[in-house]
Amino acid sequence: MAQTEVMPTTQIVGKLGDPCAMVIFGAAGDLTRRKLVPALYNLAKSQLLSREFAIVGVARAAISTEDFRNRMSQDIKQFATEPVDTDLWEWFTRRMYYLPGNFGDKNLYPKLKDLLDTADKDHSTHGNHFYYLATGADFSAPIVEQLAAVGLMEEDDRWRRVIVEKPFGHDLESAKALNQQLLQVARENQIYRIDHYLGKETVQNILALRFANGIFEPIWNRRYIDHVQISVAETVGVESRGSYYDQAGALRDMVPNHIMQLISLTAMEPPVSFRADAVRDEQAKILHAIQPLSSEEVLSKTVRGQYGEGLSGGQRVPAYRSEDSVPPDSRTETFVAMKLQIDNWRWADVPFYLRTGKRMPGHNTHIVIQFRRAPFVLFRDTPVENLMPNQLVLHIQPEEGISLRFAAKVPGPAMRLGAVDMNFEYADYFGTRPSTGYERLLHDCMIGDATLFQRADMVEAGWCVVSPALDVWKALPPRNFPNYAAGTWGPKEADELLERDGRRWRNFEK
Ligand code: BG6
Repeated sequence: MAQTEVMPTTQIVGKLGDPCAMVIFGAAGDLTRRKLVPALYNLAKSQLLSREFAIVGVARAAISTEDFRNRMSQDIKQFATEPVDTDLWEWFTRRMYYLPGNFGDKNLYPKLKDLLDTADKDHSTHGNHFYYLATGADFSAPIVEQLAAVGLMEEDDRWRRVIVEKPFGHDLESAKALNQQLLQVARENQIYRIDHYLGKETVQNILALRFANGIFEPIWNRRYIDHVQISVAETVGVESRGSYYDQAGALRDMVPNHIMQLISLTAMEPPVSFRADAVRDEQAKILHAIQPLSSEEVLSKTVRGQYGEGLSGGQRVPAYRSEDSVPPDSRTETFVAMKLQIDNWRWADVPFYLRTGKRMPGHNTHIVIQFRRAPFVLFRDTPVENLMPNQLVLHIQPEEGISLRFAAKVPGPAMRLGAVDMNFEYADYFGTRPSTGYERLLHDCMIGDATLFQRADMVEAGWCVVSPALDVWKALPPRNFPNYAAGTWGPKEADELLERDGRRWRNFEK
């Protein structure tokens, strides 16, 4: 092959990915064009993608490799995170292949094997493969079984890995069954269960904040921390995903996965190293230490809501029950709040409040660490609302940063207090590098680092936390849905959940 290989680049950070071929099942879908291909392009641009690389797209659409390359070339113009370099993109498209077919069809897999042989030879991928399952959850296990049946999961000096997207089951039983099916044909260290929250810089930074600084760890415990709040608020409704979402609901969609990641990183003990299992062992311990809720506790410590019509960003928006593909009498929750306890020495008696919802007034993910109040005997004359306890807020998105709230003297002759915030924004220090959020995760898979991927036991532990709520909610359907207007912070019971404990949610509208 006498082609000039041009790979212009800007910066080099990190280790070069191994030579490999990536197979994307579901290559005609949104994830591929919006995230995966732009992320691979960014990796190429940063010289983190091996030159010995190929992509094979698999999907139902009956199109040719040429068509696939053309489609991707159109889509990248829309979804690239920065202007596309023509030479680099050219280099990239030359390593794209496409195979049409049905994932359930056994005959597809021998064809895939042949095509991979060609791609491996043309691009010297050393026979290393990773398979990205951007497909409906029902296909995960059957695809891996078929890959194994034709020898595409076999490893020798080549590696074979599979990236599985959530949902990992729809409850504890189905998650266990899925893990068992996968583990019958693959080893745990070949399975990369992806949670896109772990691709977010600020989520990874929780570890840096906690373990690279001497000042936080000594006070990161029940002696100093009053409670923790985790909020994942979205302004959007269910968009075009009504049929998936109505089966899932807010609890399944966000809590056992994304929110459990945030809890475990916030609460875990320092790992002995950043090796994948060292980190994941500590995360798993936290998930196991979360006290399961009894049926009575589900009633008093969880709140569910569904949005009615209302105002979002100044626009009138429909109720959840009027969204596309949602039944008009749907009982599915679009909001959930919970109070959890972590039963270990560090966190005993420190409540973790969490909430997530669609159609909130702000798009904002943050973690609030609220410290115990100082004894305010000296400030008896100060109005109570000015005596805010210290809060450390980890802003995950869209603003990425950390802020510390503390009391300061209001200038003037009297000793009066006001709450002030000391703010750090990542962009001010490090600039913002355009990213899809998938670069790090894809790259980690290419170098065999599973730290930011979920292990089977973590997935199951996450389901254990939410199972009691799912069971009780199923037995007792909600009486009063919809119970919050679009564009508000959820049902009033969510505020009462904290008010009963003398606490209050910190809301960020931006
Ligand atoms: C997905 C959920 O996993 O995460 C969606 O299925 C949700 O319902 C999304 O909107 C939120 O991700 P992000 O990165 O926008 O916070």
